[in-house]
Amino acid sequence: MGEHYILQHTGAIDHAYRQRGTVESWQEHVALYAVGNSRLGLALSTAFAAPLLYPTGSESGGFHFRGGSSTGKTTALHVAGSAWGGGGIRGFIRTWRATSNGLEGVAALHCDALLCLDEIGQVDGRDAGQIAYMLANEQGKTRAGRSGETRRAAEWRLLFLSSGEISLADKIAEDGRGRRIAAGQEVRIVDIAADAGAGLGIFENLHGFPSADAFARHLKMASGEHYGEAWRAFMRLLVKDFDAIAPTVTGYRDEFISENIPAGADGQVSRVAARFGLVAAGGEMATAFGVLPWQPGEATKAAARCFSDWLLLRGGVEPAEEREAVSAVRRFIELHGNSRFEPMGDLIHRDGMGSPIDVRIQNRAGFRRRDDAGGIEYLVLPEVWRGEVCAGMDAVTVAKALASRNLLAAGEGNKLQKNTRLPGFSSSVRCYVITSSILGDDHA
Ligand SMILES: Nc1ncnc2c1ncn2[C@@H]1O[C@H](COP(=O)(O)OP(=O)(O)OP(=O)(O)O)[C@@H](O)[C@H]1O
Ligand SMILES: [Mg+2]
Repeated sequence: MGEHYILQHTGAIDHAYRQRGTVESWQEHVALYAVGNSRLGLALSTAFAAPLLYPTGSESGGFHFRGGSSTGKTTALHVAGSAWGGGGIRGFIRTWRATSNGLEGVAALHCDALLCLDEIGQVDGRDAGQIAYMLANEQGKTRAGRSGETRRAAEWRLLFLSSGEISLADKIAEDGRGRRIAAGQEVRIVDIAADAGAGLGIFENLHGFPSADAFARHLKMASGEHYGEAWRAFMRLLVKDFDAIAPTVTGYRDEFISENIPAGADGQVSRVAARFGLVAAGGEMATAFGVLPWQPGEATKAAARCFSDWLLLRGGVEPAEEREAVSAVRRFIELHGNSRFEPMGDLIHRDGMGSPIDVRIQNRAGFRRRDDAGGIEYLVLPEVWRGEVCAGMDAVTVAKALASRNLLAAGEGNKLQKNTRLPGFSSSVRCYVITSSILGDDHA
């Protein structure tokens, strides 16, 4: 063919842009099986959307497949990765752990391409947060070179797919030090439930295989035998009319947005919809070029399904900060509800004679008592509210977010604090009263 694709990189290159099989064999044994499987469809479309970032000026970001073990998450990454390369033990997949050591090199190596990051569980919350942030930020750290001069930070632009048993947000919160995912991060790394809801893990359509297990094993094997040709075929056709790329992609994307965004959605939802729209465009263009062996509309359908599942999981169209506020309070109560809230009334432990047992509360955060409906409400003292429960957030905003969901019992005149008589205080004390529903399921 006489064409060359240049991998720009300094230093030793350990890349997986290898090839095996043909576009046709890859279509038959790998890509065709994504039809009717929204997660596989999305993953493969993402592979082709990556080179569209540059011509459309779109921002980097990724999708994280979250779900239980042996549901097919890694398999989906293998399928998508096979559009770009493979071989070796892991195919085109990198692990989160390996990436935390050499993030900048790995990211630069995948510039304008797809990066598959498996197993977020292998890194700690802090590393995961930093990796995700840097990847989406398209830039590494500036460092001093050997002779002390400032070296230019590595830069990249890419789309990534990730997998893990928990979400990035939960991963970041895992170390218990109150770290939280920023709304900006959440928009860039879209969390998708791996389970597609058909009782088949990440799959919905097994294409005649006797079980999801057998289907997964086939896909893993096939993507290890046919890989690395599809992106080359895609690029050959894409660059033929470079000027047409941006308007075509934008057309697909905007159509996706207008058809899938619910009324009243906030800016964060719109940004995520735009990312899904870009991915749909990648899949549709690869289909139009004959690289993906799908019917027109298949990629869009897969993206639309994953987007609506994401929206459902997100719990609505209001800003992420509000939902984050609610979950921070819920986490605090889950963690400390028993140990740091002094029981009142019938919650007080009593001995056989009915006398209260003096249970020492270390580092008291507040009180808990029975509400009229028999649930338990939590009364948080103002300093703890501001300093601990709402650490890193605006305390008033948090209280308002809770109040609007009836998770905070307002005081007289709709005040966010309530004057309450508490044991050990000579006069009534202002506190935040968290209702018992905070630990319920309907907390969106
Ligand atoms: N949807 C599924 N239903 C049943 N079994 C499956 C499914 N997906 C995968 N498996 C089985 O699990 C094995 C591992 O698949 P895969 O690596 O994709 O899972 P995973 O979701 O990444 O799991 P883990 O969280 O353990 O990494 C497959 O080889 C197959 O045997
Ligand atoms: Mg896995």
